[in-house]
Amino acid sequence: MTALPAREGPWAGERMAIRVPLLRADELRDARERSLALVADLRDEELLVPLLPTINPLLWELGHVAFFAEHWTLRTMLARPSLLPGSERLYDSAKIAHDERWSLPLPSRAETLRYLQRQLAATLEAPYVDERSAYFQSLVLFHEDMHGEATIYTRQTLAYAAPALPTSAPPSAEVEIDGDASIPAGRYRIGARRDDAFVFDNEKWEHEVELDSFRIAKRCVTCAEFRAFVEDGGYRRESLWTPQGWSWRNEVGAEHPLHWRRSNDGWERRHFQRWIPLRERDPIVQVNAYEAEAFARWAGRRLPCEAEWEIAATGGDRRRYPWGESAADPTHANLDGRFGDVVSVDAFATHASPWGCVQMIGNVWEWTASPFLPYPGFSPDPYAEYSQPWFGVQRSLRGGAWSTRARLISTRWRNFYLPHRRDIFTGFRTCAL
Ligand code: AVJ
Ligand code: FE
Repeated sequence: MTALPAREGPWAGERMAIRVPLLRADELRDARERSLALVADLRDEELLVPLLPTINPLLWELGHVAFFAEHWTLRTMLARPSLLPGSERLYDSAKIAHDERWSLPLPSRAETLRYLQRQLAATLEAPYVDERSAYFQSLVLFHEDMHGEATIYTRQTLAYAAPALPTSAPPSAEVEIDGDASIPAGRYRIGARRDDAFVFDNEKWEHEVELDSFRIAKRCVTCAEFRAFVEDGGYRRESLWTPQGWSWRNEVGAEHPLHWRRSNDGWERRHFQRWIPLRERDPIVQVNAYEAEAFARWAGRRLPCEAEWEIAATGGDRRRYPWGESAADPTHANLDGRFGDVVSVDAFATHASPWGCVQMIGNVWEWTASPFLPYPGFSPDPYAEYSQPWFGVQRSLRGGAWSTRARLISTRWRNFYLPHRRDIFTGFRTCAL
């Protein structure tokens, strides 16, 4: 049993602005509603997925969300016994290896839903002890949001139907955005601000970086641009690929992006269970870092490093969003599954960054050239397995996709995946050499 964490921590004093009590009841209910909606239409068999390295059984993922939430908000904070005895032998992701998740004696769907329901009720009724209560409510909220996004990837990977979420018509795009923003050399600041309400350990803390001047695309690479790379033999020219990229491409025999196919009328892409014509001004999505790097070399360009990306998004003044401090709503960015898919790279031009870079938040995650590494002075927060095991192993991604929850993402939020992952809704923008 984890002891109650010490009072000093990421939640304490000047290290976290305490908007007391920063409780998240409405958001926790909203996250849970979303978690359930993302699987409600699936048959029981569909919750048990084939063993693939990138996905988890959806039934396991549901139980894991409840386990994680009770672990921090109830068992750690209040020393409560588990609502599901033995749950750590089923759902603790640090203890249960990925492939084992297919051979566990998982509770039934009905039992899992009951566990979720009892956990949420207990979390919402838990007495407020101190700042730690607020901290762990935020942690479990964002954790649930991340697993919701994983559920959307899983549905796409398995060609299930699109999630049954209410969607609106895509925003209109008036002018085509092209060209680079020029960003002057300087000492800039990146990372979490001391007055942020909640931060993950990997964002801590705000620190100075020195950048040379650079030019970064105002928008992400489009499907039409990527198609030109494919049709120019991009996947067959070793000289365009990094050594790791080329060995990946040979291993899987990649000839074009995952979920693309040629039809008589041109290229199509698979969106969940449907094939749809490629839309020229959509961002390329579901490419891995190797494909992004090969494209960039073909185009005579490169990927931005993480610090360049963040400065392009903030203008250097530590703003939370490219447009300022106001929370992301559907007129600002493509988030929360609101439009059910990517939208044109030209949309949301009115919510560009100070340098004129659009969609730095939402639509597609963006690969960076940077390995995922700790910021100076890093120390792990109570959920120590969140970031630390992945430093130096994974690659940093930024900005959030259409499938990301608005409350989670900001200009400083760091995501991380292995560079060969093609199942995440990730695209990229490039920099001039
Ligand atoms: C931060 C999205 C890479 O999915 O592996 C969920 C989030 N960590 N449960 C992941 C996470 C533990 C993590 N990412
Ligand atoms: Fe998790």
